[in-house]
Amino acid sequence: MRHYRFSDHLIDSFDQALRSLVPGSTVAERPAPGQDTQSSLTVNQARHVAGLMRVNHSGEVCAQALYQGQALTARLPRVKQEMQQAAREEQDHLAWCEQRLKELDSYPSLLNPLWYGLSYTMGAMAGLAGDEYSLGFVAETEKQVSAHLASHLTQLPENDARSRAILEQMNEDELQHRETALAAGGRELPKPVQGAMTLISKTMTKTSYFF
Ligand SMILES: [Fe+2]
Ligand SMILES: [Fe+2]
Repeated sequence: MRHYRFSDHLIDSFDQALRSLVPGSTVAERPAPGQDTQSSLTVNQARHVAGLMRVNHSGEVCAQALYQGQALTARLPRVKQEMQQAAREEQDHLAWCEQRLKELDSYPSLLNPLWYGLSYTMGAMAGLAGDEYSLGFVAETEKQVSAHLASHLTQLPENDARSRAILEQMNEDELQHRETALAAGGRELPKPVQGAMTLISKTMTKTSYFF
């Protein structure tokens, strides 16, 4: 069996970061939901939806970073496979959001490298804190992501069935990821940690909407 050195992990992490940050380098395993629907939006509606999808795309960049950071430090011997499945589904989400942004003639957030770095560090720290906290961190993240997806679903224009189908499937997956993490023994995080996560995600959602 090959033993990986620290430098191997570093190169692997860098490769993963590029895949998450460079548009077009993540391919979805499942086709984007809502492909058979039509959405004809006014210019203003399209701009608003692009803002929302840019936030969701940034959220998915964070999810990639979180799972990668966690994989670096967490052991998770019993649940590795489930967590890998969840990480795989996050790649679908990333690719779907990216595709929708393109359809709307828009672009991913310029701040994504910053969000990736922050989330990677938080994921790695959660992994160091032990598997129960690491899983608790996933559960808390998914809860917060699901809450903002629910809010975006209420903000979408009625006639945007395409974006709606994507966000609904993402929300379903995120809640499943949360269930998986909790069932595997995820522990509730201390309130200050939850608060810090909310603060970062609020800053992200407020800025990625615009640029
Ligand atoms: Fe996701
Ligand atoms: Fe998720």
